[in-house]
Amino acid sequence: MSFTIAIDGPAAAGKGTISKAVAAHFAMAHLDTGLLYRAVGAQMLQGADPLVAAQSLRPEDLDAANLRSPEVALAASQVAVMAEVRAELLAFQRGFARREGGAVLDGRDIGTVIFPKAEVKLFVTASAEVRARRRHQELVADGTQIDFDQVLADVTTRDARDAERAESPMIAAVDAVMIDTSNLTINAAIAVAVSIVQEEIIS
Ligand code: CDP
Repeated sequence: MSFTIAIDGPAAAGKGTISKAVAAHFAMAHLDTGLLYRAVGAQMLQGADPLVAAQSLRPEDLDAANLRSPEVALAASQVAVMAEVRAELLAFQRGFARREGGAVLDGRDIGTVIFPKAEVKLFVTASAEVRARRRHQELVADGTQIDFDQVLADVTTRDARDAERAESPMIAAVDAVMIDTSNLTINAAIAVAVSIVQEEIIS
């Protein structure tokens, strides 16, 4: 049986945490599609051509150590505007979406472009300040020294680039359920997402 859950939203909205928890709850596979763009962005920062990097991406590239850094996040959003890079990464994501046993994919264009027929579509968001605060805490906990104001600037720069690009811009699908996590604990946000999926499974 295949069952696809698309979770989109802006930078640091909590998509990753919610997606992992939803996938674990329903014993489905999870793909963080941002890692694909981060891996290509990381290779661009090392001098690679982004298209060649996308064409030759290997599974182990998604485990590279620095993919969560602020520099790589910005590089990811730069390669993500390139239509040919996005096209290279499309087939893998679609194949993953339809795998046996169900799949949760999180990103920016899952419900609109990668898999518009997803059984469940969520758009997870929060205010820019709340998202930047959470990302700042994550980065500091990981040993990165960075100011809150810098994280907020990076988040808003990426959001603007992701929302305004011509190719697969970040936008909520018309049939997506919005979850604003600004005033929710992470456990409450996960509970909301799980109950939406549960309703769809039994309907
Ligand atoms: O974790 P965070 O929300 O900060 O970012 P991410 O999901 O890892 O995505 C990093 C960047 O990759 C985004 O800012 C987008 O530019 C790009 N991306 C995309 O264009 N399409 C996707 N499906 C996923 C990520």
